[in-house]
Amino acid sequence: MAAPARSTVCVTGAGGFVASWLVKLLLSTGHYAVRGTVRDPSGGKNAHLMALEGAGERLRLVKADVLDHSSVASAIAGCDGVFHVASPVPSGPCPDPEADVLAPTITGTLNVLKACYEAKVKRVVVVSSFVAVGFNPKWPKGIAFSEDSWSDEEYCRKHQEFGWYFLSKTLAEREAFAYAAKTGLDVVTVCPTLVIGPLMQSSISTSVKIFLNYIKGGYDSIISI
Ligand SMILES: NC(=O)c1ccc[n+]([C@@H]2O[C@H](COP(=O)([O-])OP(=O)(O)OC[C@H]3O[C@@H](n4cnc5c(N)ncnc54)[C@H](OP(=O)(O)O)[C@@H]3O)[C@@H](O)[C@H]2O)c1
Repeated sequence: MAAPARSTVCVTGAGGFVASWLVKLLLSTGHYAVRGTVRDPSGGKNAHLMALEGAGERLRLVKADVLDHSSVASAIAGCDGVFHVASPVPSGPCPDPEADVLAPTITGTLNVLKACYEAKVKRVVVVSSFVAVGFNPKWPKGIAFSEDSWSDEEYCRKHQEFGWYFLSKTLAEREAFAYAAKTGLDVVTVCPTLVIGPLMQSSISTSVKIFLNYIKGGYDSIISI
């Protein structure tokens, strides 16, 4: 009997903490050929990906920066599905908010979505965040957050230590839905809170630093509003 046809899916920012686990999961099913975008394919920071089971046959790392539409479009061409995971997750203040976090997250998301539209991708999953949802002092206490909940943009701007990141995720998710409404592209967003778990890479991501700080009693919560 012929083997079932494999879908090809792209994972942006494949070497990051969350994306590495997604790549591992996709490879483990055996159903997907995975293209992972990384900014530095030769760098040791992504070596853990090629060591994953099935990577030799089904994982290809391609160089792409989400701010460079043509690099993203090359990575996505021919893919059935895309998981857009890449975005900077700063661990402290952003000296240049536009360059450090707003442009890569907002323009980066739009570049990925445009490339998906051009490539006729069937579905795009954009990894947004709870920080796009719950950073809003006006949200009534006791009412569950829903698809109608959005972080307050002005409030984000006032809380600059982490607020630029919160603002970037809020605006990027809004732009993603606006682009989907305009073009008909099938876009789904997911809004995780704090992702914790084992690290595959040697570098420590921001969410793991936050978790370590909780354990060490560093801060109560970065979003205590
Ligand atoms: N971890 C959490 O608790 C959590 C919670 C909610 C949402 N999220 C979301 O999940 C996603 C992944 O987060 P993470 O915790 O896994 O962070 P991470 O380990 O820091 O990964 C971020 C990834 O984004 C890539 N990236 C940043 N700027 C880029 C650019 N201009 N072009 C291409 N790639 C770029 C990084 O690539 P390089 O390696 O080249 O820098 C890295 O692979 C983010 O969208 C984040 O907002 C995470």
